[in-house]
Amino acid sequence: MNAIIETARLILRPWRDADVDEWVAMSADPRVMEFFASTQERADAETAAAVMRERMDRNGFGWWALDVKGGASFAGVIALQDVPFEAPFTPAFEVGWRLAHEHWGRGYATEGARAALEFAFAELQHEEVVAMTAAVNLRSQMVMRRLGMTHDETDDFDHPRLAPGHRLRRHVLYRASRHDRAFSSS
Ligand SMILES: CC(C)(COP(=O)(O)OP(=O)(O)OC[C@H]1O[C@@H](n2cnc3c(N)ncnc32)[C@H](O)[C@@H]1OP(=O)(O)O)[C@@H](O)C(=O)NCCC(=O)NCCS
Repeated sequence: MNAIIETARLILRPWRDADVDEWVAMSADPRVMEFFASTQERADAETAAAVMRERMDRNGFGWWALDVKGGASFAGVIALQDVPFEAPFTPAFEVGWRLAHEHWGRGYATEGARAALEFAFAELQHEEVVAMTAAVNLRSQMVMRRLGMTHDETDDFDHPRLAPGHRLRRHVLYRASRHDRAFSSS
């Protein structure tokens, strides 16, 4: 499977060589990385890109590169993956997003993530997809709400990979169900 997903304005596609420099640049941008532990140096960002690319090519889903039709050839990434750590809600399958700063404020994250959610339900046959972010990352939570995902604060958790007292440790969890009418193709 090597899935390309098309929406009205976007194409979610496998990685190309030219994407890597764009990814390195956004991974070094403090605005994009405000709610991650730190910005990434080139070597670490290149390693992450290689892992994303390999998984995408092997599985046909994962961390898609995001094209804007008639515009930027790499605006960021939209992701589907197994949650890579243990928490009270795992095992679970998650959707995520990270866009270069110049592509914020246009609805691209919500549009791309909605298509990824539909793929998770219709193609991968998941019953539920979660999304998570640091409690202080309100912009990302707005995407979850626009998608129609639901939030129960008893699901919120301390991220097991962040030390007690870390400014990003408290996380919120949102859920989307395959049977929810918000996801039209489910
Ligand atoms: C989180 C992130 C993806 C959100 O991006 P975003 O552009 O704010 O989100 P959306 O794609 O939903 O866009 C919504 C905005 O586009 C606007 N918009 C403009 N044209 C639009 C259109 N045609 N359709 C829909 N929305 C449109 C909306 O009004 C809204 O604007 P607002 O922010 O002023 O309210 C982005 O901030 C980001 O990449 N952050 C860094 C990485 C990160 O934190 N990722 C999450 C970690 S878990």
